[in-house]
Amino acid sequence: MRSLLFALLIISGLVTATGYGFLVSARSGGTETPGRALYVTNCAGCHGVSLEGQPDWMKRLPSGRLPAPPHDETGHTWHHSDKQLFTIVKSGLSSIAPGYESDMPVFEGVLSDEQITEVLDYIKSTWPDRARAYQADRSKADPM
Ligand code: HEC
Repeated sequence: MRSLLFALLIISGLVTATGYGFLVSARSGGTETPGRALYVTNCAGCHGVSLEGQPDWMKRLPSGRLPAPPHDETGHTWHHSDKQLFTIVKSGLSSIAPGYESDMPVFEGVLSDEQITEVLDYIKSTWPDRARAYQADRSKADPM
């Protein structure tokens, strides 16, 4: 009787340990996407490692320009279609708002089209369902 209990304990311990290990590796695999690495290198300096943006991002700087907004759901990145976001990152804000002066760099020649898409996919992957659904609708109405 004792040895049977002991065997059961070992088996359930093994199941828990392996199941847990699987979950942990699946999770960490999700955060280290190529898009995340590109984001940290190229965007996080202004938009924040946790996509939190610059402090007081709605208040103009002494230069009259705006600070970098957050890319999480508290910002307005999710209000834009894929086409708009891609164009902003590749060609700059002035390409959709001519004459607009901004500290947002132009990434043409720095990131390939695929890399821009990967960065944007990473940003989108952090949004809650509501923001993702809204942004997907905007993208459908404004195809690439
Ligand atoms: C040197 C600082 C800086 C870096 C680096 C930077 N940005 Fe920006 N970004 C800004 C600023 C400042 C704005 C706000 C510009 C404005 O409204 O005048 C902005 C705006 C944006 C917007 C428009 C947001 C909106 O809600 O309208 C997008 C999209 C964006 N950035 C994406 C990126 C991505 C992706 C990267 C990296 C590949 C990046 N930015 C790197 C400073 C930066």
